[in-house]
Amino acid sequence: MIERRRHHSWKTAWGFWRVLIAVSATFAALLVPAHIVGGETLVPHYRWYDAFLTFIFFTDVVIRLRAPQNVVGTRGWLLLGVDLVSAVPLAALTGIPAFALARLLKLLRVAQLLSSWRYHRLQYWNILRLVYFGYWLAICIHWLACGWLALRGASPGTDLWTGYLHSLFWVLSTLTTLGFTDNMPRTNPEIVYAAVLMIFGVATYGYVIGNVANILANIDPARARYFEHMEKLSSFMNYRGIPAELQRRVRDYHAYVWEHRLGYDEATTLSGLPPSLLIEVSMFLKRDVIQHVPFFATASDELIQEIALCMHPVVYMPGDVIFRQGERGRDMYFISRGAVEVLGKDGQPMAILRKGDVFGEMALVLNKPRTATVQATGYCDLYRLEKAMFDDILSRYPEFAAHVRALTRERRGSRRVVNT
Ligand code: CMP
Repeated sequence: MIERRRHHSWKTAWGFWRVLIAVSATFAALLVPAHIVGGETLVPHYRWYDAFLTFIFFTDVVIRLRAPQNVVGTRGWLLLGVDLVSAVPLAALTGIPAFALARLLKLLRVAQLLSSWRYHRLQYWNILRLVYFGYWLAICIHWLACGWLALRGASPGTDLWTGYLHSLFWVLSTLTTLGFTDNMPRTNPEIVYAAVLMIFGVATYGYVIGNVANILANIDPARARYFEHMEKLSSFMNYRGIPAELQRRVRDYHAYVWEHRLGYDEATTLSGLPPSLLIEVSMFLKRDVIQHVPFFATASDELIQEIALCMHPVVYMPGDVIFRQGERGRDMYFISRGAVEVLGKDGQPMAILRKGDVFGEMALVLNKPRTATVQATGYCDLYRLEKAMFDDILSRYPEFAAHVRALTRERRGSRRVVNT
């Protein structure tokens, strides 16, 4: 337990550190090119920033070396080498400002962090895609603006900051293909630069149009899937001339299932999980029933787990007959939400069963046809346990067998309306 907690706090601290490194790398990605182009005028106190980057990047290398689980395989060591290169203040040592570009290699760690978020924060997958795209685009635009400033320089009579803002504006208007400027490229390198920029702009534009629409449409895939399914179903029902009343009931059913998020089939959605996780998830999903069925309060954990794994959710609508008297018993039910009515031979109500009650056990215990008809009075969420599983559990857990037999005995004795 303590081990697990220690592991957890280590992971949190490590997460914070990675974010700090990513922020520093971004900082470097913005400052270094600006400093190369504009020197101290554009980035005052650059020396201090550079010292800070050296310190934090070196600390990062040391931390990574001390936690070898973070350096896996050849790729891990290569990345560590890259970390080391980006930590060395090459420009200050050699006196060549362009060497500071080695700092940008640290952006690899940003890419690594972003992609690990992608896989661990799947619930925000689409939003994150948008944010990552915005992040890289912003950095590229800054670099391009620095590049243009280096080529063109600030116009006479303006300071470097204004020059940078002009370049940024020029890059943005060229990228967005607006051409909203009279700043035409003049020299050959400028023309080549502008042409490359335009191609980059068109590609980005295409990416944005294609992806943003797709991302927005997929923000809630479950909802999109639901509406698509409903559309198909509606047109099918119209085409086959299904009566309006029946159509309404089909739609009501789907709306109910959707509202309670049962739209997903639990069994298939969870099928890939390893057994231990599957048990925990099943127990959580079925906690409503497990907490409300009185018998489970005294049952062993093992039995509860086993039943939780074998119960399958089913939904019934108001007035639906779940089974009729005289039918063969194939399963028993636990009520998770809603209520059902037990009807005797003459259609007289014998009992109303609610959340936490069970029914359908008598035919299985006595090995006889159903002793009564059971009908849903409103929307009902039930959990179904099939006969084979029921028999299996009954034979292995005497406490469960005793409880079910006692219930059967009690119900056989009672012929009045009872609310159990
Ligand atoms: P089964 O005989 O399989 O099908 C009808 C179900 O109605 C039966 O199992 C019991 O679960 C339930 N049932 C029958 N009689 C009563 C009663 N008097 N009170 C409550 N539930 C009953």
